[in-house]
Amino acid sequence: MLGRHRIRVSGYLRPVPTRNPYPTAAAFLPDKLSMTALRDAVQGCRGCPLYANATQAVFGEGTLKAEVMLVGEQPGDQEDKAGAPFVGPAGKVLDRALEEAGIDRGTTYVTNAVKHFKWKAARGTRRIHDKPSWTETMACRPWLDAELALVKPRALVLLGAVAAQALLGKTFKVTQQRGKPLDSELADLVLATIHPSAVLRAENRDEMFAELVDDLRVVSRTFAH
Ligand code: URA
Ligand code: SF4
Repeated sequence: MLGRHRIRVSGYLRPVPTRNPYPTAAAFLPDKLSMTALRDAVQGCRGCPLYANATQAVFGEGTLKAEVMLVGEQPGDQEDKAGAPFVGPAGKVLDRALEEAGIDRGTTYVTNAVKHFKWKAARGTRRIHDKPSWTETMACRPWLDAELALVKPRALVLLGAVAAQALLGKTFKVTQQRGKPLDSELADLVLATIHPSAVLRAENRDEMFAELVDDLRVVSRTFAH
């Protein structure tokens, strides 16, 4: 049983919860790693508490042959409803930035570090983004690891601190390392940059956007034929 030990108690099996009822996503991964099996299995994930308040899990999207994989933080309100990553306001910023950097989103694989939308209620019925905790991010990592293992991208772009820390460690600082090829085994080129939603929140949007594009250009330049 997932997250439980079974012990014999007076002739029948009674499930005894372990101390942490959320075992991480590992136990929910399919035996055979295929994109179809993963997409299917993620909907049943109970690896952390975040599944409970979300509409659905939002898995990565894109081609298995992608040379570039982009990783965001977690689905937002619109992604949670649509079931696809980066389709809301941050997605629009990402689309424009990729285009300006000369990367066709259609040739990439786009996903998030955390697959369920974490939110808090705002006035009315609005659901606002709530940052996933370190424990939740780590609980969700097996899905991201599986996506990496299947896609095997040449370039891995980590959008924002949550994605970067999920794969490079808790002390990684995007502000200090952004736009620089990083020393990592995860792909030939591993790069961190800001999250597209940081552009939306900034007062100096144009400048922030241009810097995001500059960082993404490192990818297109490295793989220019
Ligand atoms: N922000 C993210 O990090 N991912 C999405 O899919 C949407 C917004
Ligand atoms: Fe599982 Fe990740 Fe959803 Fe948590 S956020 S329930 S680990 S898929």
